[in-house]
This record gives sequence, structure tokens and C-alpha cells, in this order.
Amino acid sequence: MKAARLSALALAAGLLLAFSMCRPVRAADEEIPKHFFVAPPPFSEGIFPCSQCHKDMPVNPKPRKLEQMHDNIQLHHMPNGWCFECHTPRDRDVLHLANGSTVKFEESYNLCGQCHGTVLRDWKVGLHGKRTGSWNGDKQYMLCVSCHSPHDPVFKPLKPLPPPLAPAEIK
Ligand code: HEC
Ligand code: HEC
Ligand code: HEC
Ligand code: HEC
Repeated sequence: MKAARLSALALAAGLLLAFSMCRPVRAADEEIPKHFFVAPPPFSEGIFPCSQCHKDMPVNPKPRKLEQMHDNIQLHHMPNGWCFECHTPRDRDVLHLANGSTVKFEESYNLCGQCHGTVLRDWKVGLHGKRTGSWNGDKQYMLCVSCHSPHDPVFKPLKPLPPPLAPAEIK
């Protein structure tokens, strides 16, 4: 009788332990949030809101070398692409997806994810890019554009520095 009750107790304890061990695993699966706490977009000073200039400017959809403004921007991304692949002609303060829906600059990762879907998936779970914060609490993400220029995303090779002097050469 006593032994039966003891083994029932052990079984219950075992089940409880197994359950508590399973839970974090399942929680991690379900954990991918809908909203990401991201760093602010790395705008250069004074450029945003874009509408301060573009509100009353005619839209010029022609691909060309920009000269009066943004002459530092040269597109080296997606062959044959142009600004309006990402920027919205009628509202320069927001980006847009291929289906036309607008995207805030704070959520530009959704824009990138259209074409770099596997990288976006990795970014969300913290495998690509940089994520800080607590492992089971709030996390902060760096935007894709904090590291990659949207206009010229490939990293340039670093220039190697000369080798150090050998001890014999230090006098
Ligand atoms: C692949 C999508 C994409 C394309 C194509 C693109 N942009 Fe952008 N652009 C972005 C994103 C995303 C940002 C936000 C990055 C940031 O916060 O600096 C941005 C930022 C900018 C900014 C603000 C830069 C700053 O100094 O902070 C300007 C101006 C701009 N784009 C103009 C252009 C022009 C002009 C073209 C075409 C020659 C162009 N963009 C093409 C995605 C794009
Ligand atoms: C100080 C004024 C100013 C601000 C701020 C500004 N722009 Fe412009 N932008 C211009 C001018 C002027 C041109 C035309 C340049 C040319 O034709 O050589 C231009 C051209 C462009 C173009 C090329 C297409 C077109 O309509 O001519 C894009 C895309 C663009 N700007 C995006 C942006 C975005 C995105 C921002 C904000 C992040 C921004 N601009 C902020 C003045 C501005
Ligand atoms: C419309 C599709 C499209 C969108 C949107 C797009 N990209 Fe790209 N991206 C491409 C293509 C195509 C290439 C490869 C061809 C090239 O380098 O021109 C590329 C290349 C790259 C590369 C270089 C990959 C390598 O091999 O080193 C990086 C990094 C990158 N994109 C980041 C971004 C970021 C960040 C964004 C969002 C601001 C973005 N892309 C948005 C199509 C896109
Ligand atoms: C903390 C910086 C950082 C952030 C944030 C970041 N990346 Fe990257 N990314 C890198 C580095 C570093 C590489 C490797 C570059 C190399 O090997 O030349 C890379 C490589 C890439 C490549 C080319 C290689 C591949 O795996 O296909 C693409 C495309 C890319 N990133 C897109 C993105 C997109 C899209 C986002 C946002 C969802 C993003 N990155 C966020 C740093 C970052």
C-alpha cells in the first residue's frame, strides 16, 4: 500500500519535472515576437523628415546621376533597380514593399526581407546581425541598415595595415 503510494508520488514528481523541462523548449519556439525593438534608423543629421523638401517638389522618376542633392548616393544594389523600388514617390517619409504597402523606416527590415527572406528569418531569431538584451526578456535588434548601406550593401574589403616592426628594427 505504502509502496504503491510512494511510486504514484514518484510518478507525479517525474511528470512534473518532465513538464517543467519541456516548457522552456516550447516557449522558445513560440517566442519569436511580432514587434522588434530596433535601433533608430541611422539617418544623417537633418535629412529626416524627407518631406521638408519633397512635399512641394515634383517627382522625377527618371534614373539619373543626382547632382543638386544626394550626390553622395550611387546605387550599387540589385541590378537595374532605382530609388522607387524602395522609396515612395508621393510620400518620401516612408518606404514601400513590392505590393505597394508602406513601411516605416523603423521597419525597413521588412523591405529587405522581401528579397533576403532567409537572412530576415535568421535575423529575427538572432542568428544574423546583432541582438542584445535578456535571453528570456526584452531584446534589442540592430536594423539591417545599421550595418549594410541600403544603397551599396556589400562590405568593402579592409585595407591591410603594414606588419609590425621586428624587435631588432626597434631602436
Ligand atoms: C533597397 C532599397 C533602397 C533603394 C533602391 C534606395 N534606397 Fe534610399 N534608403 C533606403 C533605406 C532602407 C534607407 C534608410 C537608411 C538609413 O536610415 O540611413 C534609405 C535612406 C535614404 C536617404 C537618407 C540617407 C541619409 O543620409 O541618412 C536618402 C537621401 C535616400 N535613401 C535616397 C535614395 C535615392 C536618391 C535612391 C536612388 C538613387 C535610393 N535612396 C535608393 C532604401 C533604399
Ligand atoms: C534638403 C532638401 C532634401 C531633403 C531633406 C531630402 N531630399 Fe531627396 N531630393 C532633393 C533634391 C533637390 C532632389 C533632386 C536632385 C537632382 O535631381 O539632382 C532630390 C531627389 C531625390 C530622389 C530622386 C527622385 C526624385 O524625385 O528626384 C529620391 C528618391 C529622394 N530625393 C529621396 C529622399 C529621401 C528618402 C529623403 C529623406 C530620407 C530625402 N530625399 C530628403 C532634396 C532633398
Ligand atoms: C527587390 C529586391 C531587393 C531588396 C528589397 C533588397 N535587396 Fe539586397 N540584394 C538584392 C540583389 C538582387 C542582390 C545581389 C545583386 C547585387 O549585389 O547587386 C542584393 C545584394 C545584397 C547584399 C550583398 C550580398 C552579398 O553577396 O554580399 C546585401 C548585404 C544586401 N543586399 C542587403 C540588403 C538590405 C539591408 C536591404 C534592405 C534595406 C536589401 N538588401 C533589400 C535584392 C534586394
Ligand atoms: C550587426 C551587423 C549586421 C546586421 C544588423 C545585419 N547584417 Fe547582414 N551581414 C553582416 C555581416 C558582417 C555579413 C558578412 C559579410 C561578408 O561576409 O562580407 C553580412 C552578410 C549579409 C548578406 C550576404 C550573405 C548572406 O548571408 O546572404 C546579406 C544578403 C545580408 N547580410 C542581409 C542582411 C539583412 C537583410 C539584414 C536585416 C534583416 C542584415 N543583413 C542585418 C552584418 C549585419
